[in-house]
Amino acid sequence: MKLNKYSSKLTQDETLPASQAMIIGSGIPFEDLNKAFVGIGSTGFEGNPCNMHLTDLAALQKKSVQATNEIVGLLFNTIGVSDGITNGNDGMRYSLPSREIIADSIESIAGAHFYDGVIFTAGCDKNMPGAIMAMARLNRPSIMVYGGTINGGHYKGEKLNIVSAFEAYGKKLQGKISDEDYKEIIKNSCPGPGACGGMYTANTMATAIEAMGMSLPYSSSCPARSEEKKRECHNVGQYILNLLEKDIKPSDIITEKSIKNALKIITVLGGSTNAVLHMIAIARTMGIELTLTDIQNITDTTPLLADMKPSGKYLMEDLFKIGGVPAILKFMLKEGMIDGSCMTVTGKTIEENLKDLPGLPEGQDLLRPLSNPVKPEGHIQVLYGNIAKLGAVAKITGHEGEIFQGKAICFDNEADLNAGIHEGKVQAGHVVVIRYVGPKGGPGMPEMLKPTSAIIGAGLGDKVALITDGRFSGGTHGFVVGHVTPEAMEGGEIALVEDGDIILIDSIHNTIEAKVSEEEFNARRAKWKKPDYKVKSGYLWKYIKNVENASGGCLTDR
Ligand code: FES
Repeated sequence: MKLNKYSSKLTQDETLPASQAMIIGSGIPFEDLNKAFVGIGSTGFEGNPCNMHLTDLAALQKKSVQATNEIVGLLFNTIGVSDGITNGNDGMRYSLPSREIIADSIESIAGAHFYDGVIFTAGCDKNMPGAIMAMARLNRPSIMVYGGTINGGHYKGEKLNIVSAFEAYGKKLQGKISDEDYKEIIKNSCPGPGACGGMYTANTMATAIEAMGMSLPYSSSCPARSEEKKRECHNVGQYILNLLEKDIKPSDIITEKSIKNALKIITVLGGSTNAVLHMIAIARTMGIELTLTDIQNITDTTPLLADMKPSGKYLMEDLFKIGGVPAILKFMLKEGMIDGSCMTVTGKTIEENLKDLPGLPEGQDLLRPLSNPVKPEGHIQVLYGNIAKLGAVAKITGHEGEIFQGKAICFDNEADLNAGIHEGKVQAGHVVVIRYVGPKGGPGMPEMLKPTSAIIGAGLGDKVALITDGRFSGGTHGFVVGHVTPEAMEGGEIALVEDGDIILIDSIHNTIEAKVSEEEFNARRAKWKKPDYKVKSGYLWKYIKNVENASGGCLTDR
Protein backbone atom coordinates (compact mmCIF):
# COMPACT_ATOMS: atom_id res chain seq x y z
CA MET A 1 0.00 0.00 0.00
CA LYS A 2 1.33 3.43 -0.95
CA LEU A 3 1.79 5.24 2.36
CA ASN A 4 1.74 8.80 1.00
CA LYS A 5 -1.59 8.53 -0.80
CA TYR A 6 -2.59 12.09 0.08
CA SER A 7 0.65 13.95 0.74
CA SER A 8 2.12 12.82 -2.60
CA LYS A 9 -0.45 15.09 -4.28
CA LEU A 10 1.47 17.95 -2.70
CA THR A 11 5.02 16.65 -2.48
CA GLN A 12 5.33 14.75 -5.76
CA ASP A 13 3.50 17.11 -8.13
CA GLU A 14 6.09 19.10 -10.09
CA THR A 15 3.55 21.84 -10.74
CA LEU A 16 3.65 22.68 -7.02
CA PRO A 17 7.24 23.81 -6.45
CA ALA A 18 6.26 26.59 -4.03
CA SER A 19 4.38 24.14 -1.81
CA GLN A 20 7.43 21.88 -1.72
CA ALA A 21 9.77 24.80 -1.08
CA MET A 22 7.72 25.82 1.93
CA ILE A 23 7.69 22.29 3.34
CA ILE A 24 11.48 22.10 2.94
CA GLY A 25 11.74 25.57 4.47
CA SER A 26 9.95 24.26 7.56
CA GLY A 27 12.83 21.86 8.16
CA ILE A 28 11.81 18.71 6.31
CA PRO A 29 14.69 17.37 4.18
CA PHE A 30 14.06 17.10 0.43
CA GLU A 31 14.66 13.32 0.66
CA ASP A 32 11.75 12.99 3.09
CA LEU A 33 9.20 14.50 0.74
CA ASN A 34 8.16 11.08 -0.48
CA LYS A 35 7.47 9.78 3.01
CA ALA A 36 3.97 9.69 4.49
CA PHE A 37 2.95 12.85 6.36
CA VAL A 38 1.06 12.38 9.60
CA GLY A 39 -0.41 15.28 11.57
CA ILE A 40 0.21 14.91 15.31
CA GLY A 41 -2.22 17.25 16.98
CA SER A 42 -3.40 17.98 20.45
CA THR A 43 -5.65 20.26 22.41
CA GLY A 44 -2.65 21.16 24.52
CA PHE A 45 -2.87 24.50 26.29
CA GLU A 46 -1.86 25.94 29.62
CA GLY A 47 -4.19 26.82 32.45
CA ASN A 48 -6.18 23.58 32.62
CA PRO A 49 -5.01 20.28 34.15
CA CYS A 50 -6.67 18.16 31.45
CA ASN A 51 -4.68 19.84 28.66
CA MET A 52 -1.49 21.21 30.23
CA HIS A 53 0.63 18.12 29.42
CA LEU A 54 -0.72 17.27 25.99
CA THR A 55 1.93 19.05 23.91
CA ASP A 56 4.55 17.02 25.83
CA LEU A 57 2.71 13.81 24.98
CA ALA A 58 2.48 14.90 21.34
CA ALA A 59 6.25 15.52 21.30
CA LEU A 60 6.83 11.94 22.49
CA GLN A 61 4.52 10.73 19.75
CA LYS A 62 6.46 12.68 17.15
CA LYS A 63 9.67 10.88 18.18
CA SER A 64 7.88 7.57 17.87
CA VAL A 65 6.50 8.45 14.43
CA GLN A 66 9.89 9.70 13.14
CA ALA A 67 11.54 6.51 14.42
CA THR A 68 9.60 4.48 11.87
CA ASN A 69 11.71 6.15 9.15
CA GLU A 70 8.68 5.98 6.89
CA ILE A 71 6.67 8.88 8.21
CA VAL A 72 7.17 12.60 8.73
CA GLY A 73 5.35 13.68 11.89
CA LEU A 74 4.00 17.23 11.93
CA LEU A 75 2.88 18.77 15.20
CA PHE A 76 -0.16 21.03 15.39
CA ASN A 77 -2.55 22.32 18.03
CA THR A 78 -6.21 23.15 18.30
CA ILE A 79 -8.02 25.14 20.94
CA GLY A 80 -9.79 23.54 23.85
CA VAL A 81 -12.25 24.61 26.54
CA SER A 82 -12.24 23.35 30.10
CA ASP A 83 -15.66 22.35 31.41
CA GLY A 84 -14.40 22.38 34.96
CA ILE A 85 -13.25 25.99 34.69
CA THR A 86 -16.26 27.23 32.72
CA ASN A 87 -18.97 25.49 34.72
CA GLY A 88 -21.18 28.00 36.49
CA ASN A 89 -20.08 30.98 34.37
CA ASP A 90 -20.64 32.32 30.86
CA GLY A 91 -17.48 30.62 29.59
CA MET A 92 -19.56 27.44 29.54
CA ARG A 93 -21.39 28.78 26.48
CA TYR A 94 -18.27 27.92 24.50
CA SER A 95 -17.89 24.41 25.84
CA LEU A 96 -20.05 22.29 23.54
CA PRO A 97 -19.49 24.62 20.56
CA SER A 98 -15.73 24.06 20.99
CA ARG A 99 -16.31 20.47 19.82
CA GLU A 100 -17.10 21.81 16.37
CA ILE A 101 -14.08 24.14 16.33
CA ILE A 102 -11.81 21.22 17.23
CA ALA A 103 -13.37 19.00 14.54
CA ASP A 104 -13.23 21.81 11.97
CA SER A 105 -9.61 22.63 12.86
CA ILE A 106 -8.34 19.07 12.53
CA GLU A 107 -10.27 18.59 9.30
CA SER A 108 -8.94 21.91 7.99
CA ILE A 109 -5.25 21.37 8.68
CA ALA A 110 -5.23 17.72 7.61
CA GLY A 111 -7.34 18.49 4.55
CA ALA A 112 -5.41 21.58 3.51
CA HIS A 113 -1.97 20.05 4.07
CA PHE A 114 -2.79 16.61 2.64
CA TYR A 115 -1.87 14.60 5.72
CA ASP A 116 -1.96 10.86 5.12
CA GLY A 117 -3.04 10.20 8.68
CA VAL A 118 -3.72 11.85 12.01
CA ILE A 119 -2.75 11.14 15.60
CA PHE A 120 -4.64 13.37 17.98
CA THR A 121 -4.30 13.71 21.73
CA ALA A 122 -7.29 15.08 23.60
CA GLY A 123 -7.90 15.67 27.24
CA CYS A 124 -11.27 17.21 28.03
CA ASP A 125 -14.91 16.39 27.42
CA LYS A 126 -15.61 17.67 23.90
CA ASN A 127 -12.09 17.35 22.60
CA MET A 128 -12.43 13.65 22.07
CA PRO A 129 -15.70 13.58 20.14
CA GLY A 130 -14.38 16.60 18.21
CA ALA A 131 -11.27 14.62 17.28
CA ILE A 132 -13.20 11.52 16.26
CA MET A 133 -15.67 13.57 14.20
CA ALA A 134 -12.74 15.07 12.29
CA MET A 135 -11.22 11.63 11.77
CA ALA A 136 -14.57 10.38 10.48
CA ARG A 137 -14.87 13.33 8.10
CA LEU A 138 -11.31 12.84 6.77
CA ASN A 139 -11.50 9.04 6.78
CA ARG A 140 -7.72 8.60 6.75
CA PRO A 141 -5.77 6.29 9.08
CA SER A 142 -6.08 7.85 12.53
CA ILE A 143 -5.49 7.16 16.21
CA MET A 144 -6.78 9.08 19.18
CA VAL A 145 -4.60 9.17 22.29
CA TYR A 146 -6.32 10.16 25.51
CA GLY A 147 -4.43 12.64 27.69
CA GLY A 148 -5.27 10.47 30.68
CA THR A 149 -7.14 10.85 33.91
CA ILE A 150 -6.01 12.92 36.86
CA ASN A 151 -4.87 11.37 40.14
CA GLY A 152 -7.19 11.81 43.09
CA GLY A 153 -6.62 14.62 45.58
CA HIS A 154 -6.59 14.19 49.36
CA TYR A 155 -7.56 16.29 52.34
CA LYS A 156 -8.16 15.21 55.93
CA GLY A 157 -8.20 11.57 54.90
CA GLU A 158 -10.87 12.11 52.25
CA LYS A 159 -10.35 11.52 48.55
CA LEU A 160 -11.08 14.58 46.47
CA ASN A 161 -11.83 15.31 42.83
CA ILE A 162 -13.20 18.27 40.89
CA VAL A 163 -16.78 17.64 42.02
CA SER A 164 -15.62 17.87 45.65
CA ALA A 165 -14.70 21.49 44.88
CA PHE A 166 -18.11 22.19 43.33
CA GLU A 167 -19.96 20.59 46.23
CA ALA A 168 -17.81 22.38 48.80
CA TYR A 169 -19.62 25.61 47.91
CA GLY A 170 -23.02 24.20 48.91
CA LYS A 171 -21.53 22.78 52.10
CA LYS A 172 -19.98 26.16 52.95
CA LEU A 173 -23.30 27.90 52.37
CA GLN A 174 -24.93 25.46 54.76
CA GLY A 175 -22.19 26.02 57.35
CA LYS A 176 -21.24 22.34 57.11
CA ILE A 177 -17.55 23.12 56.50
CA SER A 178 -15.30 25.91 57.74
CA ASP A 179 -13.76 28.59 55.52
CA GLU A 180 -10.39 26.91 56.08
CA ASP A 181 -11.69 23.51 54.92
CA TYR A 182 -13.34 25.18 51.94
CA LYS A 183 -10.01 26.70 50.91
CA GLU A 184 -8.10 23.46 51.44
CA ILE A 185 -10.61 21.47 49.37
CA ILE A 186 -10.10 23.93 46.48
CA LYS A 187 -6.33 23.69 46.87
CA ASN A 188 -6.27 19.89 46.89
CA SER A 189 -9.02 18.77 44.51
CA CYS A 190 -6.87 18.77 41.34
CA PRO A 191 -3.34 17.66 42.22
CA GLY A 192 -1.77 17.86 38.73
CA PRO A 193 -2.25 17.00 35.08
CA GLY A 194 -5.10 14.86 33.84
CA ALA A 195 -8.79 14.98 33.08
CA CYS A 196 -11.49 15.00 35.77
CA GLY A 197 -11.17 11.73 37.59
CA GLY A 198 -14.59 10.07 37.92
CA MET A 199 -16.65 8.44 35.20
CA TYR A 200 -17.46 11.98 34.07
CA THR A 201 -17.66 13.04 30.44
CA ALA A 202 -13.96 12.98 29.53
CA ASN A 203 -13.35 9.53 30.97
CA THR A 204 -16.68 8.35 29.55
CA MET A 205 -15.80 9.47 26.03
CA ALA A 206 -12.23 8.16 26.26
CA THR A 207 -13.61 4.78 27.36
CA ALA A 208 -16.23 4.77 24.61
CA ILE A 209 -13.61 5.61 21.98
CA GLU A 210 -11.26 2.86 23.17
CA ALA A 211 -14.16 0.39 23.10
CA MET A 212 -15.06 1.68 19.62
CA GLY A 213 -11.53 0.80 18.55
CA MET A 214 -10.17 4.30 17.78
CA SER A 215 -7.54 4.34 20.53
CA LEU A 216 -5.02 1.77 21.75
CA PRO A 217 -5.84 -0.62 24.61
CA TYR A 218 -5.46 1.10 28.01
CA SER A 219 -5.46 4.60 26.47
CA SER A 220 -8.62 5.62 28.31
CA SER A 221 -7.70 4.30 31.73
CA CYS A 222 -3.95 4.82 32.14
CA PRO A 223 -3.55 8.03 34.16
CA ALA A 224 -1.96 11.18 32.72
CA ARG A 225 1.16 10.82 34.83
CA SER A 226 1.62 7.06 34.47
CA GLU A 227 4.53 5.30 32.76
CA GLU A 228 1.92 3.47 30.71
CA LYS A 229 0.76 6.77 29.19
CA LYS A 230 4.32 7.52 28.11
CA ARG A 231 4.68 4.00 26.72
CA GLU A 232 1.50 4.47 24.69
CA CYS A 233 3.03 7.59 23.12
CA HIS A 234 6.33 5.78 22.48
CA ASN A 235 4.48 3.00 20.64
CA VAL A 236 2.02 5.01 18.61
CA GLY A 237 4.34 5.38 15.59
CA GLN A 238 4.34 1.66 14.87
CA TYR A 239 0.57 1.55 15.06
CA ILE A 240 -0.05 4.46 12.71
CA LEU A 241 2.48 2.94 10.27
CA ASN A 242 0.56 -0.32 10.38
CA LEU A 243 -2.74 1.50 9.71
CA LEU A 244 -1.15 3.32 6.74
CA GLU A 245 0.32 0.10 5.34
CA LYS A 246 -2.98 -1.75 5.60
CA ASP A 247 -5.05 1.34 4.75
CA ILE A 248 -7.27 0.82 7.80
CA LYS A 249 -9.48 3.88 8.04
CA PRO A 250 -12.02 5.19 10.58
CA SER A 251 -14.83 3.82 8.38
CA ASP A 252 -13.37 0.32 8.93
CA ILE A 253 -13.46 0.86 12.69
CA ILE A 254 -16.45 3.12 13.44
CA THR A 255 -19.38 0.92 12.49
CA GLU A 256 -22.85 0.25 13.82
CA LYS A 257 -21.43 -2.68 15.80
CA SER A 258 -18.50 -0.76 17.31
CA ILE A 259 -20.80 2.11 18.26
CA LYS A 260 -23.03 -0.37 20.06
CA ASN A 261 -19.98 -1.74 21.90
CA ALA A 262 -19.14 1.81 22.97
CA LEU A 263 -22.67 2.52 24.15
CA LYS A 264 -22.71 -0.72 26.11
CA ILE A 265 -19.53 0.03 28.04
CA ILE A 266 -20.85 3.54 28.76
CA THR A 267 -23.91 1.87 30.27
CA VAL A 268 -22.02 -0.76 32.23
CA LEU A 269 -19.72 1.87 33.76
CA GLY A 270 -22.41 4.50 34.43
CA GLY A 271 -21.01 7.11 32.01
CA SER A 272 -22.09 10.66 31.37
CA THR A 273 -25.32 11.73 29.65
CA ASN A 274 -23.19 13.94 27.40
CA ALA A 275 -22.15 10.73 25.70
CA VAL A 276 -25.62 10.62 24.14
CA LEU A 277 -24.99 13.87 22.28
CA HIS A 278 -21.47 12.95 21.31
CA MET A 279 -22.17 9.37 20.21
CA ILE A 280 -25.05 10.53 18.02
CA ALA A 281 -22.77 13.21 16.54
CA ILE A 282 -19.90 10.75 15.90
CA ALA A 283 -22.22 8.15 14.37
CA ARG A 284 -23.99 10.62 12.10
CA THR A 285 -20.68 12.12 11.00
CA MET A 286 -19.60 8.61 10.01
CA GLY A 287 -22.86 8.22 8.09
CA ILE A 288 -24.51 5.92 10.63
CA GLU A 289 -27.97 6.98 11.81
CA LEU A 290 -28.05 6.63 15.58
CA THR A 291 -31.19 7.81 17.34
CA LEU A 292 -32.38 8.25 20.91
CA THR A 293 -34.46 5.11 20.41
CA ASP A 294 -31.32 3.09 19.61
CA ILE A 295 -29.77 4.42 22.81
CA GLN A 296 -32.83 3.49 24.85
CA ASN A 297 -32.65 -0.03 23.36
CA ILE A 298 -29.08 -0.39 24.66
CA THR A 299 -30.17 0.93 28.05
CA ASP A 300 -33.07 -1.55 28.21
CA THR A 301 -30.79 -4.50 27.59
CA THR A 302 -27.58 -3.56 29.40
CA PRO A 303 -27.13 -3.39 33.18
CA LEU A 304 -25.26 -0.76 35.17
CA LEU A 305 -22.52 -2.69 36.94
CA ALA A 306 -19.84 -0.26 38.08
CA ASP A 307 -19.54 1.54 41.39
CA MET A 308 -17.92 4.68 40.00
CA LYS A 309 -18.22 8.37 40.63
CA PRO A 310 -20.29 10.51 40.34
CA SER A 311 -22.93 8.20 41.84
CA GLY A 312 -20.61 5.57 43.23
CA LYS A 313 -17.26 5.26 44.91
CA TYR A 314 -14.39 4.74 42.49
CA LEU A 315 -12.31 6.92 40.18
CA MET A 316 -10.77 6.09 36.81
CA GLU A 317 -7.36 5.54 38.45
CA ASP A 318 -9.01 2.78 40.51
CA LEU A 319 -10.37 1.20 37.36
CA PHE A 320 -6.86 1.26 35.91
CA LYS A 321 -5.58 -0.63 38.96
CA ILE A 322 -7.95 -3.53 38.28
CA GLY A 323 -6.99 -3.93 34.63
CA GLY A 324 -8.46 -0.82 33.04
CA VAL A 325 -10.92 -0.74 30.19
CA PRO A 326 -9.45 -3.91 28.56
CA ALA A 327 -10.37 -5.91 31.69
CA ILE A 328 -13.93 -4.57 31.53
CA LEU A 329 -14.15 -5.32 27.80
CA LYS A 330 -12.81 -8.82 28.43
CA PHE A 331 -15.53 -9.38 31.01
CA MET A 332 -18.16 -8.04 28.60
CA LEU A 333 -16.86 -10.19 25.75
CA LYS A 334 -16.97 -13.31 27.90
CA GLU A 335 -20.55 -12.49 28.89
CA GLY A 336 -21.53 -12.01 25.24
CA MET A 337 -22.26 -8.30 25.75
CA ILE A 338 -20.01 -6.91 23.00
CA ASP A 339 -19.05 -7.89 19.48
CA GLY A 340 -15.39 -8.94 19.50
CA SER A 341 -15.08 -8.95 15.71
CA CYS A 342 -14.81 -5.15 15.41
CA MET A 343 -11.56 -3.76 13.95
CA THR A 344 -9.39 -1.45 16.06
CA VAL A 345 -6.40 0.86 15.57
CA THR A 346 -4.04 -1.97 16.51
CA GLY A 347 -4.96 -3.51 13.16
CA LYS A 348 -6.53 -6.37 15.10
CA THR A 349 -10.05 -7.01 16.31
CA ILE A 350 -11.15 -6.33 19.87
CA GLU A 351 -11.16 -10.05 20.56
CA GLU A 352 -7.60 -10.40 19.27
CA ASN A 353 -6.47 -7.40 21.35
CA LEU A 354 -7.99 -8.84 24.52
CA LYS A 355 -6.78 -12.40 24.08
CA ASP A 356 -3.53 -11.99 26.01
CA LEU A 357 -4.53 -9.13 28.29
CA PRO A 358 -5.45 -9.78 31.93
CA GLY A 359 -9.05 -9.80 33.05
CA LEU A 360 -10.50 -8.50 36.30
CA PRO A 361 -8.68 -9.66 39.46
CA GLU A 362 -10.38 -11.75 42.13
CA GLY A 363 -11.82 -9.71 44.98
CA GLN A 364 -12.33 -6.44 43.11
CA ASP A 365 -15.63 -4.72 43.88
CA LEU A 366 -15.60 -1.90 41.33
CA LEU A 367 -17.51 -3.97 38.78
CA ARG A 368 -20.33 -6.09 40.05
CA PRO A 369 -21.26 -9.44 38.49
CA LEU A 370 -24.27 -9.67 36.16
CA SER A 371 -26.10 -11.52 38.92
CA ASN A 372 -25.90 -8.52 41.24
CA PRO A 373 -26.00 -5.30 39.18
CA VAL A 374 -26.19 -1.77 40.58
CA LYS A 375 -29.24 -1.50 38.34
CA PRO A 376 -30.60 -4.23 36.04
CA GLU A 377 -30.81 -1.80 33.14
CA GLY A 378 -28.88 1.31 32.13
CA HIS A 379 -28.82 4.62 33.95
CA ILE A 380 -29.29 6.73 30.81
CA GLN A 381 -32.99 6.91 30.12
CA VAL A 382 -34.60 8.59 27.14
CA LEU A 383 -37.87 10.23 28.14
CA TYR A 384 -40.68 11.63 26.01
CA GLY A 385 -43.77 13.57 27.00
CA ASN A 386 -45.71 16.77 26.60
CA ILE A 387 -42.73 18.87 27.66
CA ALA A 388 -40.16 16.87 25.66
CA LYS A 389 -41.87 15.88 22.44
CA LEU A 390 -38.57 15.21 20.68
CA GLY A 391 -36.97 13.60 23.69
CA ALA A 392 -35.00 14.26 26.86
CA VAL A 393 -32.15 12.38 28.49
CA ALA A 394 -32.19 11.43 32.16
CA LYS A 395 -29.53 9.92 34.30
CA ILE A 396 -31.15 7.55 36.78
CA THR A 397 -28.65 5.38 38.58
CA GLY A 398 -31.13 3.89 41.00
CA HIS A 399 -29.68 5.71 44.02
CA GLU A 400 -32.30 8.44 43.59
CA GLY A 401 -35.41 6.35 42.82
CA GLU A 402 -37.13 5.93 39.47
CA ILE A 403 -40.19 8.18 39.69
CA PHE A 404 -40.38 11.77 40.85
CA GLN A 405 -43.43 13.97 41.01
CA GLY A 406 -43.36 17.52 42.25
CA LYS A 407 -44.26 21.15 41.75
CA ALA A 408 -42.39 23.12 39.13
CA ILE A 409 -40.25 26.06 40.11
CA CYS A 410 -38.97 27.77 36.97
CA PHE A 411 -35.78 29.71 36.28
CA ASP A 412 -34.93 31.25 32.91
CA ASN A 413 -31.20 31.15 33.46
CA GLU A 414 -28.63 29.48 35.65
CA ALA A 415 -27.71 32.60 37.65
CA ASP A 416 -31.32 33.05 38.86
CA LEU A 417 -31.40 29.43 39.91
CA ASN A 418 -28.15 29.73 41.83
CA ALA A 419 -29.59 32.77 43.61
CA GLY A 420 -32.84 30.82 44.21
CA ILE A 421 -30.93 27.99 45.88
CA HIS A 422 -28.96 30.49 47.96
CA GLU A 423 -32.15 32.25 49.09
CA GLY A 424 -33.84 28.98 50.00
CA LYS A 425 -36.52 29.25 47.29
CA VAL A 426 -35.77 25.74 46.10
CA GLN A 427 -37.30 23.32 48.53
CA ALA A 428 -37.90 19.61 48.97
CA GLY A 429 -40.54 18.36 46.52
CA HIS A 430 -39.70 20.85 43.79
CA VAL A 431 -39.06 20.01 40.17
CA VAL A 432 -36.57 22.70 39.27
CA VAL A 433 -36.95 23.82 35.65
CA ILE A 434 -33.91 25.59 34.13
CA ARG A 435 -34.72 26.71 30.60
CA TYR A 436 -33.46 28.95 27.79
CA VAL A 437 -30.14 27.15 28.23
CA GLY A 438 -30.41 24.87 25.19
CA PRO A 439 -28.11 24.78 22.14
CA LYS A 440 -29.53 28.07 20.80
CA GLY A 441 -30.84 29.54 24.05
CA GLY A 442 -27.71 29.11 26.19
CA PRO A 443 -26.23 29.48 23.73
CA GLY A 444 -24.11 26.37 23.59
CA MET A 445 -26.25 24.18 25.88
CA PRO A 446 -24.28 24.85 29.06
CA GLU A 447 -23.89 22.28 31.80
CA MET A 448 -25.66 22.84 35.09
CA LEU A 449 -23.03 21.47 37.45
CA LYS A 450 -22.97 24.50 39.72
CA PRO A 451 -26.69 24.37 40.62
CA THR A 452 -26.76 20.58 40.88
CA SER A 453 -23.70 20.64 43.13
CA ALA A 454 -25.23 23.42 45.23
CA ILE A 455 -28.41 21.37 45.57
CA ILE A 456 -26.44 18.30 46.65
CA GLY A 457 -24.34 20.44 48.98
CA ALA A 458 -27.53 21.90 50.49
CA GLY A 459 -28.76 18.39 51.30
CA LEU A 460 -31.60 18.47 48.75
CA GLY A 461 -30.03 15.94 46.36
CA ASP A 462 -32.67 13.27 46.88
CA LYS A 463 -35.54 15.68 47.50
CA VAL A 464 -35.71 17.69 44.28
CA ALA A 465 -35.55 16.86 40.57
CA LEU A 466 -34.06 19.07 37.87
CA ILE A 467 -35.14 19.35 34.27
CA THR A 468 -33.47 21.49 31.65
CA ASP A 469 -32.97 22.07 27.95
CA GLY A 470 -29.29 22.47 28.86
CA ARG A 471 -26.91 19.68 29.76
CA PHE A 472 -25.64 18.10 32.90
CA SER A 473 -22.01 17.58 33.64
CA GLY A 474 -20.75 14.04 33.77
CA GLY A 475 -20.05 14.93 37.39
CA THR A 476 -23.70 15.56 38.19
CA HIS A 477 -25.67 13.11 40.26
CA GLY A 478 -29.22 13.27 41.57
CA PHE A 479 -32.59 13.08 39.78
CA VAL A 480 -31.78 15.04 36.64
CA VAL A 481 -33.28 15.30 33.16
CA GLY A 482 -31.45 17.27 30.49
CA HIS A 483 -31.42 17.76 26.70
CA VAL A 484 -35.16 18.57 26.76
CA THR A 485 -36.07 18.98 23.10
CA PRO A 486 -37.45 21.12 21.56
CA GLU A 487 -35.65 23.71 23.65
CA ALA A 488 -37.38 26.74 25.18
CA MET A 489 -35.75 29.13 22.69
CA GLU A 490 -37.43 27.22 19.86
CA GLY A 491 -40.81 27.50 21.58
CA GLY A 492 -40.66 24.03 23.15
CA GLU A 493 -43.25 23.29 25.83
CA ILE A 494 -40.60 23.59 28.55
CA ALA A 495 -40.91 27.36 27.94
CA LEU A 496 -44.62 27.18 28.81
CA VAL A 497 -44.32 25.46 32.18
CA GLU A 498 -45.32 27.73 35.09
CA ASP A 499 -44.44 27.69 38.78
CA GLY A 500 -46.71 25.26 40.60
CA ASP A 501 -47.43 22.98 37.60
CA ILE A 502 -47.20 19.35 38.64
CA ILE A 503 -44.50 17.48 36.74
CA LEU A 504 -44.15 13.71 36.70
CA ILE A 505 -40.85 12.14 35.67
CA ASP A 506 -41.24 8.39 35.27
CA SER A 507 -38.12 6.50 34.25
CA ILE A 508 -39.95 3.17 34.36
CA HIS A 509 -42.31 4.18 31.57
CA ASN A 510 -39.82 6.69 30.12
CA THR A 511 -42.15 9.67 30.31
CA ILE A 512 -41.89 13.27 31.39
CA GLU A 513 -45.24 15.04 31.63
CA ALA A 514 -46.52 18.32 32.98
CA LYS A 515 -50.08 17.93 34.29
CA VAL A 516 -51.18 20.68 31.95
CA SER A 517 -53.82 20.17 29.25
CA GLU A 518 -53.09 20.76 25.58
CA GLU A 519 -55.68 23.60 25.63
CA GLU A 520 -53.88 25.26 28.50
CA PHE A 521 -50.54 24.88 26.74
CA ASN A 522 -52.08 26.40 23.59
CA ALA A 523 -53.40 29.36 25.59
CA ARG A 524 -49.97 29.90 27.14
CA ARG A 525 -48.30 29.52 23.74
CA ALA A 526 -50.47 32.31 22.32
CA LYS A 527 -49.03 34.64 24.95
CA TRP A 528 -45.41 33.42 24.66
CA LYS A 529 -42.87 35.79 23.16
CA LYS A 530 -39.55 34.48 21.97
CA PRO A 531 -36.81 36.27 23.93
CA ASP A 532 -33.83 37.85 22.21
CA TYR A 533 -30.81 35.68 21.64
CA LYS A 534 -28.22 36.33 24.31
CA VAL A 535 -25.43 36.65 21.76
CA LYS A 536 -25.66 38.20 18.31
CA SER A 537 -22.14 38.21 16.95
CA GLY A 538 -19.01 36.14 16.71
CA TYR A 539 -18.62 32.40 16.94
CA LEU A 540 -21.56 31.80 19.26
CA TRP A 541 -23.88 33.59 16.82
CA LYS A 542 -22.62 31.34 14.03
CA TYR A 543 -23.28 28.41 16.33
CA ILE A 544 -26.84 29.56 17.09
CA LYS A 545 -27.55 29.80 13.37
CA ASN A 546 -26.16 26.37 12.52
CA VAL A 547 -26.69 24.06 15.46
CA GLU A 548 -29.21 21.22 15.24
CA ASN A 549 -31.23 20.15 18.25
CA ALA A 550 -29.85 17.99 21.06
CA SER A 551 -31.73 14.88 19.92
CA GLY A 552 -29.71 15.04 16.68
CA GLY A 553 -26.40 15.44 18.54
CA CYS A 554 -26.03 19.23 18.10
CA LEU A 555 -24.27 18.91 14.76
CA THR A 556 -23.54 22.09 12.84
CA ASP A 557 -22.66 20.71 9.41
CA ARG A 558 -26.01 19.43 8.24
FE1 FES B 1 -11.34 18.68 31.49
FE2 FES B 1 -13.17 17.99 33.33
S1 FES B 1 -12.43 19.96 32.85
S2 FES B 1 -12.16 16.74 31.90
